[in-house]
Amino acid sequence: MTKIKVDISNALGVNAEKEIKNSLKNYKSSYKSLVGKTGKGNDFLGWVNLPSSINKSLTEKILEVSERISKNSEIVVVIGIGGSYLGARAVIDALSNHFNNLDEGNKFPKIIYAGNNISEDYHAELLELLDKKDYSVIVISKSGTTTEPAIAFRLIKKHIEKKYGKEKSKKRIIAITDKAKGALKKLSVSEGYETFDIPDDVGGRYSVLTPVGLLPIAVAGIDIKKIISGAVEMEKHLCNNVDVENNPAALYAIARNVLYKKGKTTEILAAYQPSLQYIAEWWKQLYGESEGKENKGIFPASVSFTADLHSMGQYIQQGLRNIFETVISIDSPKKKLQIPNDKDNLDGLNFISGKRLNEVNKMAELGTMLAHVDGKVPNIKISIPVLDEKNLGALIYFFEFACGLSGYMLDVNPFDQPGVEAYKNNMFALLDKPGYEKQSKAIKTKLKK
Ligand code: PA5
Repeated sequence: MTKIKVDISNALGVNAEKEIKNSLKNYKSSYKSLVGKTGKGNDFLGWVNLPSSINKSLTEKILEVSERISKNSEIVVVIGIGGSYLGARAVIDALSNHFNNLDEGNKFPKIIYAGNNISEDYHAELLELLDKKDYSVIVISKSGTTTEPAIAFRLIKKHIEKKYGKEKSKKRIIAITDKAKGALKKLSVSEGYETFDIPDDVGGRYSVLTPVGLLPIAVAGIDIKKIISGAVEMEKHLCNNVDVENNPAALYAIARNVLYKKGKTTEILAAYQPSLQYIAEWWKQLYGESEGKENKGIFPASVSFTADLHSMGQYIQQGLRNIFETVISIDSPKKKLQIPNDKDNLDGLNFISGKRLNEVNKMAELGTMLAHVDGKVPNIKISIPVLDEKNLGALIYFFEFACGLSGYMLDVNPFDQPGVEAYKNNMFALLDKPGYEKQSKAIKTKLKK
């Protein structure tokens, strides 16, 4: 039985049962298309049975490479963008000590990210840091041709070769890419880098449980076997339970779809743990790229509470009523901390002295939910008992499965991202990339007008 629970009692109001019933036909055919791998974009449905198909030899190879580069590196730079970066960062941030990168006693390498922006200052400062540190690089790109990570890798390749020499630096570079095609694969073969393949049938944003996510996560000292086992349990559960009462992903997908049809076109993912900030970033990419097409789709936004209650909280309470909120609620913290008593009580907080911080956080969560529901913001609650490896593995698979279902219920292909090409084409035309001569001329004429 899955430990992830979805509560929609504050989402659909009095007509919940009827609305779920009305969605059943669409849901069931979407479920069939997803699990039977017959729906739109079905050549990218490898992730559906990915957790249970990860074999021991792959896990062992990931752990072996992770151990090797960890031994001689204070820093590991993970180069990638979008689905080739967000999943790893989400899991590493969610499961690591908040202050790992400041803790000299942390025995695992510090993970730093590059290739997810083209900022000159960011990359120049990164190279300045790498001058002073022993480091290795994991470069990730499925297509092997994405501009941002390619620029970062070009800079870092030059730096690492100068620092360690051509031969020694090769042992510090790991490439994760397509098994046969793309510039990164070609380069890796010609330079002799260690490589991991990204399965053909798994797209970037569904790839966290491939080496794309698992290698950086292992380098950060997180138990990838437990993550995989949580995901396997969730896969078995969701793929074998079409009935909505037993399938939390179905309930989530149906509730989103009903709310969308009622004009709730923005979903705000909220969490009360700062360590979940990048889970929200990963989730935004997953849902935004999967559903936002053909002039359809829920806009995925996120907030980190209680911090954002002092900024976005105003809008959520009283702004345009086109939003609903989905809260990731963690039942129990891993650590224990009580609010101390103070004999002078100048801050007036003795009414909560002796309470655990989590108790106060939970009351903030409950109070906010009640206020937002009163303010006509429907609320979906996704509960997890504790934020550990197994539950996080399960949560990742849960969100992926619900996203696939949700995309099919919306009648889009949730596994492509044709719209992403538009900015690239303009950028290449503006930079006079060979082959873009016609577009260059057109865009420059347009800008002159
Ligand atoms: O989900 C996706 O497919 C995208 O977000 C890609 O992951 C992202 O564009 C990076 O692509 P690549 O791994 O080919 O460099």
